[in-house]
Amino acid sequence: MQAHPITKYQPVTPIDLPDRQWPSRQIERAPIWASVDLRDGNQALAIPMTVDDKIEFFDSLVQTGFKEIEVGFPSASQTEFDFIRRLIDEKRIPEDVTVQVLVQARAHLIRRTFESLKGIPRAIVHLYNSTSPLQREVTFNKTKEEIKAIAVEGTELIKSLVDTIPETHIRLQYSPESFSDTETDYALEVCQAVMSVWQPTESNKIILNLPATVEIATPNHHADQIEWFCRHLKERNKAIISLHTHNDRGTGTAATELGLLAGADRVEGTLFGNGERTGNLDLVTVALNLYAQGIDPNLDLADIPSLRATYERITRMNVPERHPYAGDLVFTAFSGSHQDAIKKGMDLQAKKASPSSLWRVPYLLIDPQDIGRSYEAIIRINSQSGKGGVAFLLHRHHGLDLPKAMHPEVGEAINRAADKDSRELTTDEIHEIFLCEYVERQTPLKIIEIKSKDFEKSGELHIEAEIIHRDKKEIIGGTGNGPISAFVDALKDCGLKDFQILDYRQHSIGHGSKTEAAAYIQIKKEDGRIYFGCGIDSNIEFAGLNALVSAFNRSR
Ligand code: KIV
Ligand code: ZN
Repeated sequence: MQAHPITKYQPVTPIDLPDRQWPSRQIERAPIWASVDLRDGNQALAIPMTVDDKIEFFDSLVQTGFKEIEVGFPSASQTEFDFIRRLIDEKRIPEDVTVQVLVQARAHLIRRTFESLKGIPRAIVHLYNSTSPLQREVTFNKTKEEIKAIAVEGTELIKSLVDTIPETHIRLQYSPESFSDTETDYALEVCQAVMSVWQPTESNKIILNLPATVEIATPNHHADQIEWFCRHLKERNKAIISLHTHNDRGTGTAATELGLLAGADRVEGTLFGNGERTGNLDLVTVALNLYAQGIDPNLDLADIPSLRATYERITRMNVPERHPYAGDLVFTAFSGSHQDAIKKGMDLQAKKASPSSLWRVPYLLIDPQDIGRSYEAIIRINSQSGKGGVAFLLHRHHGLDLPKAMHPEVGEAINRAADKDSRELTTDEIHEIFLCEYVERQTPLKIIEIKSKDFEKSGELHIEAEIIHRDKKEIIGGTGNGPISAFVDALKDCGLKDFQILDYRQHSIGHGSKTEAAAYIQIKKEDGRIYFGCGIDSNIEFAGLNALVSAFNRSR
């Protein structure tokens, strides 16, 4: 990197817009969405899509609810041409969907594009040429007037060709490519010239797409460019202003959102942000950001996992683990305090009257279920995880509703195991550790059998139990107001009672013939230390007795 002073790069010139309005606006509705996956996204793939891939991707975009879809660059290659022909010939374009085709402002390419469109009921022809000083000087070596003339002549040719396919309703989209790096007044001048040729009307508007072909500045700068453009455009009512951001600085989403505040009507982008270099705008993120603000995005994103699977299979790209909404780790909390808060929020949410009650779960922006994500992956346990996370998983996956006071102790036992192996634990592993630590503790004390249970005249219960203590079989007996107190009495009788019971609770697990009981006992030893035990059995009495034995054994 260059040392200070940095002369290799320079800041952008701010837009002169002291009375900018966008900072105090709010987005109130979804924009018109236009997917450019099959063109901008496709051209950035190491292995571009085949015609069959494109058909499948197109169908999936239609299902997701896109009404404007850029399907390719038909004059650029035979595959692109064949694809649009298949869409038309096989009547695959639903009546409420308009396809868009990209073409450079060059006569032979425009003519070939029109050939590809024969027989289509409606289409958007997307004309573009690059307008920035950098492109004018370095790539084209042309003056401003010459660059404007390219756009004007391209538009004139398109206009003259409209009548060659009279069965088709053609709309024009014009992009001053590299708008983000173009003098805004010059971009306006070119767009105005295109409009003068095309003569849009309020009912047949032109689409002026203002690309951040390369994202060169902070999102507020982009918003200033868009607001300035919208305010200075003559006959604004005859144009749809469209955004097309890329993500070179990692702020494509923010730039788009601020661009909408600044007055844009339409947004172009791709699913999960595929596209040249750092990608195009991720439409899924912007749409779900709107949803999270209570705005209907007008896209069906209820099954993100399957949309993502189709996308990954066809593009051979991966959605990163922390990608907003769609990444594997987005609905996962590792830190204990986050897990505790999520559990509290989820419990309260579950108690609310309706599934559409206001979502108030800390750390989770939206309900994962709304987009087809499951709760299962929400909490994963590693040595950093808290007590709440473990309890949550044992409850959700294994029906064990541990007493709250038991959570820290169980959490510690599980964290120790995770720490030992330096890795995350699955819910099944957590369950196994719990069973091994609590339910299967059978030394030094084990009940082999309850030999007899008789009620005495006093109404108290007397039990005799065969036990093994320190490898020695014994029959012990005691009396109490229930089996647990009778067993405690029996332990006292043989000198093993060095504790008092502080708490006992139980609940059932499962339903019908498979129902089991889980019992939890908390004991306090004479030295003041506290231990929990748990017993699980189809017989509720055994569950309780085993819970006591578990606590006893854990205290040794
Ligand atoms: O990024 C861009 O400028 C483009 C244009 C062709 C619209 O993709
Ligand atoms: Zn682009």
